[in-house]
Amino acid sequence: MAQPDIIKKELFKIKHPDLKKDIISLGMLNDVQVLEGETLIKLRTPSQDRKLQIGLEAQIRQLLSKIDTNKIKIKFDVDPNFSLDDSNRIPGIKRTIAIGSGKGGVGKSTVTINLAASLAGQGYKVGVLDADIYGPSIGKMVGVNGRVALKTDEEIIYPLEKFGLKIISFAFLVDENQPVVWRGPMLGKAIEQFLFQVKWGDLDYLLIDLPPGTGDVQLSLAQLTDLTGAVLVTTPQRVATLDASKAAAMFSQVKVPILGVIENMSYFIPPDAPEKRYNIFGEGGAKELADSIQSKLLGQIPHMIDLMEGGESGTPAVLKNSSGPIANSYLEITKALEIEIQSWE
Ligand SMILES: Nc1ncnc2c1ncn2[C@@H]1O[C@H](COP(=O)(O)OP(=O)(O)O)[C@@H](O)[C@H]1O
Ligand SMILES: [Mg+2]
Repeated sequence: MAQPDIIKKELFKIKHPDLKKDIISLGMLNDVQVLEGETLIKLRTPSQDRKLQIGLEAQIRQLLSKIDTNKIKIKFDVDPNFSLDDSNRIPGIKRTIAIGSGKGGVGKSTVTINLAASLAGQGYKVGVLDADIYGPSIGKMVGVNGRVALKTDEEIIYPLEKFGLKIISFAFLVDENQPVVWRGPMLGKAIEQFLFQVKWGDLDYLLIDLPPGTGDVQLSLAQLTDLTGAVLVTTPQRVATLDASKAAAMFSQVKVPILGVIENMSYFIPPDAPEKRYNIFGEGGAKELADSIQSKLLGQIPHMIDLMEGGESGTPAVLKNSSGPIANSYLEITKALEIEIQSWE
């Protein structure tokens, strides 16, 4: 007599004949009850589709006869209000946001981890996927360096946890999973596993730290899952905003909404005179970019030593001082982001 969780795990292997997705991801499994001598499986369908029902029943019986000695009973509940979820959303994750930039070194990873920490501080459940294949740095920024292996398709990958965040990074992969260069199908497969095989649990936000530019990681992500949208990080300088506009064009091409632009290192606040503000990197760059791509400037983050030190010390700056100017900038950005997301939902 197999237990319900074992049966559920098996049922992941049953695919809907037309949609090519398993019946659990589609939300079709209503209930599994293991009774004395009988295992009852209840499935939901939007309509009375006998051909579909007979097909699924045969598949399930064949699969479960190998592991369960109980009599198998399959019941179909027809629910006209139920629609098959044939999107590519990750089960349990409400919002999936990619953080991109045109150029490296603009502070994308620093923004990702501080944004994540700010959201977690507001009570949201947050995961971070460090997909920067060239320079994965999220682990270092929170002081974790674990080891995970990419396994076979059915096995679960456990994220590491720090500061209440669930984290997976290309940097955590064991050496035998790390090719000399990541490209093509192998890269796509790794990203698919990071999205769908990691036990993220229920999350309000999954933030994805992308590599700079417009490469394979961005394309794989857009193909594999329905992103809520992308956020672009840039510094005020033209070299950075120009590259960011190319990244914006790429996201539009693959139909990923641009939720907004974050300007990092907008102005300098000297450590010995925190009331001062110097626009040493020029002004208005990110706003111009946002206007030119019909998007919003979500906020500006000052250049502060604390942010740099946060990256080195393993504690993100918003957590070190939860009421300082950095934490406040991030709080404002999360509010602006929330409004923007709602306008797309
Ligand atoms: N607002 C900021 N103020 C000061 N230093 C920053 C700020 N944002 C990022 N940095 C520093 O700049 C460097 C590059 O940031 P990083 O987040 O690694 O960039 P990216 O991920 O875009 O390559 C790091 O040393 C980081 O600590
Ligand atoms: Mg980075």
